Amino acid sequence: MELVVKPDADAVGEVVADMIIALVARRPDAVIGLATGSTPLPTYRALAAAVGEGRASFADVRFVMLDEYVGLPEGHPESYRTVLEREALRPLGVTGDRLIGPTLSLPPEEIGPRYEERLAALGGVDLQLLGIGSDGHIGFNEPTSSLASRTRWKTLTQQTRDDNARFFDDPADVPRHVITQGLGTIGECGHAVLVATGAAKAEALTAAVEGPVSAACPASVLQFHPHVTVVADDAAAAGLQGLDYYRFTLANKPAWQPF
Ligand code: F6R
Repeated sequence: MELVVKPDADAVGEVVADMIIALVARRPDAVIGLATGSTPLPTYRALAAAVGEGRASFADVRFVMLDEYVGLPEGHPESYRTVLEREALRPLGVTGDRLIGPTLSLPPEEIGPRYEERLAALGGVDLQLLGIGSDGHIGFNEPTSSLASRTRWKTLTQQTRDDNARFFDDPADVPRHVITQGLGTIGECGHAVLVATGAAKAEALTAAVEGPVSAACPASVLQFHPHVTVVADDAAAAGLQGLDYYRFTLANKPAWQPF
């Protein structure tokens, strides 16, 4: 894993945005996997600024969803499709039809396999943006998820429902079910970019990067991925035993180069 540590969430967002901009400059029709939640927002803001300044264009990019709530009415302000259209796509001048996600109208057992087929038809995901849950989840692969899991219907843990209650008027409104790309599915992306900011993520990030690969910390499966970049702020990186080593390594690299 490559680790990039920055002082704060905005600086993290700039680095991640630079990686995405470099990818799209190389491959204008790249397939980019988006995540929701608070962590990617500075990245989305930095991308929008780059578009505004004429430094990037996302006109030909195909975007895909990492996960989605099940059971919210279409167009609900907290459905992940709506959130991504509002926070990520519209500021980039991209319309919602370029965002590919699971078809929720299908019978539950068909949603995952059909979505996998669509991802495969796109030729796979070039870069997948990932946040990390305080319990170590990525996507909505909660602890005990199979490390080989595919896209499927899942039940959220109470901890994740509590974590996400801040987005809803009433905590009881947080859906209980989601569709999420599986850990095996995520593992097939070309470049996984795991972003973590804030002290609340320190324990999970340490387990993911330095702990044993285990379903107890689903993000730890990324240790098997051939191309992962972890971008964290100081607070989230604070628990990493190897931080001094990573800092030393980074300090002795020429400027960080996008892959
Ligand atoms: C969101 C997702 C989740 C979040 C994670 C962190 O699409 O898949 O895994 O990335 O719950 O959420 P935040 O960023 O809100 O702390």
